[in-house]
Amino acid sequence: MAAILICLAFMAFAAGTGAGSSGELTADYYGDSCPQALATIKFVVGAAILKEPRMGASLVRLHFHDCFVNGCDGSVLLDDTDGMVGEKTAKANNMSVRGFGVIDAIKAAVDTACLGTVVSCADILALAARDSIVALGGSSYEVPLGRRDGTTASKDAADASIPNPFMDLPELLATFHAQGLTLRDLVVLSGAHTLGYSRCVFYRSRLYNETSTLDPAYAASLDEQCSRDGGEEDQEALAALDDTPTTMDTEYYAGLMNGHALLHTDQQLYNGDGGKSDGMVRYYAENQDKFWEDFGKAMVKLGNLSPLTGDEGEVREYCRVVNSQE
Ligand code: HEM
Ligand SMILES: *[C@@H]1O[C@H](CO)[C@@H](O)[C@H](O)[C@H]1NC(C)=O
Ligand SMILES: *[C@@H]1O[C@H](CO)[C@@H](O)[C@H](O)[C@H]1NC(C)=O
Repeated sequence: MAAILICLAFMAFAAGTGAGSSGELTADYYGDSCPQALATIKFVVGAAILKEPRMGASLVRLHFHDCFVNGCDGSVLLDDTDGMVGEKTAKANNMSVRGFGVIDAIKAAVDTACLGTVVSCADILALAARDSIVALGGSSYEVPLGRRDGTTASKDAADASIPNPFMDLPELLATFHAQGLTLRDLVVLSGAHTLGYSRCVFYRSRLYNETSTLDPAYAASLDEQCSRDGGEEDQEALAALDDTPTTMDTEYYAGLMNGHALLHTDQQLYNGDGGKSDGMVRYYAENQDKFWEDFGKAMVKLGNLSPLTGDEGEVREYCRVVNSQE
């Protein structure tokens, strides 16, 4: 058994250094070291979504929050330690990002299928996001692989880089520019809000604001669960980010055009003044195929943000902790 593991560890090492030392990710990275990896991940993601359809949205968001903080290195998955305050309690993540149990389940299944620790947690996040999008009706795209896992995480870095839902367009765009992403990337990737839910704390200010652009009937439908001065229970009340929160369709963009944008930042992409982002929103509202195609491309771009490759970082044994130094 030990010999097999050493041998497999060597194969994984060879795959890691062979394909990735130049910093390039490749779609067939695990083709030799673990050909079962991708099917295994897809299976566990599919089962998790069958059990709870929202999980697909949650997995897509995890990949985004991983990549925006020092690159796609699995940092969002690390638990706090005595010496490190990680990203889980950052403003955008605390009591908000979810899916860690599913990532643990995927990691266990893929390690069993690969007979060892071969697939990185950062790659699992990228694949789980893609598989979620496909499971919820979107079109598939190839995911470049070979990311290695970081050995640190940072709450401060997460607070500094992940956008918050009260920003205006220039601020929002600045957070994307800081990552080398464009206005179009912002509009296309925000299309992920065709999936999932937001808590009352993030949309309340739009419900009770006379100058808000929300459709009054839509706002009224949310009043009861998310009252103006509601306590803790209200703050957690979920509302769908678009009218079809478990389907990868263009309802999100249609909603921006008819007063159903739940978050202030969503509405910032379309304000009816005929600006650049208005045109993009209209285009995607009317072209589902183009939305799917451009979304896949933008997800690849997101997934390529500063990955660790070659012998940088490590392949974590457990996604929540860095490997022990023995
Ligand atoms: C552009 C700036 C963005 C802002 C300000 C933003 C903000 C938010 C907020 C406030 C929530 C609700 C969280 C909660 O209630 O706890 C949310 C949910 C979500 N976000 Fe974003 N987001 C942005 C971009 C993105 C991007 C680029 C993606 C993915 C590519 C994404 C994917 C999601 C998904 C799928 C959900 C639903 C998660 C679930 O239901 O578990 N968001 N976002
Ligand atoms: C995270 O949320 C919990 C529950 O609302 C709160 O008690 C805690 O102070 C928050 N942590 C941070 C770092 O904001
Ligand atoms: C109400 O909405 C307007 C327009 O979006 C905004 O300028 C203003 O800051 C909002 N006020 C509050 C209290 O949220």
